[in-house]
Amino acid sequence: MVKAVVLGAAGGIGQPLALLLKANPLVTELGLFDIVNTPGVAADLSHISTPAKVEGFLPPDDGLKKALAGADIVVIPAGVPRKPGMTRDDLFKINAGIVKDLAAGIATTAPKAFVLVISNPVNSTVPIVAEVFKKFGVFDPKRLFGVTTLDVVRASTFVAEILGDLSLSKDVVVPVVGGHSGVTIVPLLSQSSHPLPAGFAKDSYDTLVNRIQFGGDEVVKAKSGAGSATLSMAYAGAEFAAKIIRAVKGEKGIVAPSYVSVEADAAGGAALTKELGQELAFFSSNVELGTDGVTKIIPLGKITEAEQTLITAALPELVKNIETGVNFIAAAYSTEEPRL
Ligand SMILES: NC(=O)c1ccc[n+]([C@@H]2O[C@H](COP(=O)([O-])OP(=O)(O)OC[C@H]3O[C@@H](n4cnc5c(N)ncnc54)[C@H](O)[C@@H]3O)[C@@H](O)[C@H]2O)c1
Repeated sequence: MVKAVVLGAAGGIGQPLALLLKANPLVTELGLFDIVNTPGVAADLSHISTPAKVEGFLPPDDGLKKALAGADIVVIPAGVPRKPGMTRDDLFKINAGIVKDLAAGIATTAPKAFVLVISNPVNSTVPIVAEVFKKFGVFDPKRLFGVTTLDVVRASTFVAEILGDLSLSKDVVVPVVGGHSGVTIVPLLSQSSHPLPAGFAKDSYDTLVNRIQFGGDEVVKAKSGAGSATLSMAYAGAEFAAKIIRAVKGEKGIVAPSYVSVEADAAGGAALTKELGQELAFFSSNVELGTDGVTKIIPLGKITEAEQTLITAALPELVKNIETGVNFIAAAYSTEEPRL
């Protein structure tokens, strides 16, 4: 029995993500929460002939608590997407408070759930969830994940395009490490399961790295003000959620990049910290998943000089982003008691 819950389920990501979770035969219950429209989304999905029982909730009458009751896995795409001209700081100001309140709901109602954060900026919203959980005394670093899968999905697709065969994209595996915005996104193309063509030019490499780092901008621009990536993000979120569910059900050897606390695996975290040459509370690296969440943080391993340069550029930005999240919660709880 697996209960999955989507917070922000009526949105551009939330609806197709809920659809894909409803299509996953391992999900037996699906709870949908949003500030609008969830009864309609739930009624619609409930007609699909798959096992999951679907229920939609709105804030009145303890809707958040009811949605979260008994949750095994909670995915959070609630918040505002980036519009052209909007900075990550603008986005942070709106989404930080939303994620804080939803995290308080999870901490009090489903503290053992696996929590998958999609709401941007992920580099800061994941520390926000961690800090809220610490305030409530329920933080388990093995169970909190920043969803960076869209970067991985984009890298696989773009490499398959370069290899001239899109049918390969499902099998191309490129570890993408660091964080989940701009220069903090570091694709380790030298470790791709399908190497780039021999003699791949330096400027083509730079273009590819840039496209993986700023693929989100391509979508924001193409949608001209109507939002950011939703369908590809829903696909990526559902893929990552499916991996967690399979691991929790006992499947071994599932590895995927995710933005996690380095405390999730002391030995792996220490090895990663040594490679990075500095301590960071959160970093996206390949992680091995098991019944309790993260079982291993897999260090970067052998990387090229070009990749090392990208990591070096990512670190100061990541440090700043993590601090922003931590400071937001410290300031919020200096004037209010942590409560739902
Ligand atoms: N991690 C990633 O790779 C990635 C990719 C794309 C977008 N995103 C982020 O995902 C988030 C959602 O994007 P979207 O395009 O679906 O936006 P959207 O505006 O279409 O949907 C967001 C939904 O959140 C709901 N919401 C707002 N406040 C809420 C609250 N307090 N509780 C519950 N629900 C609430 C809204 O009602 C809306 O239905 C944004 O922060 C966006 O930046 C992340």
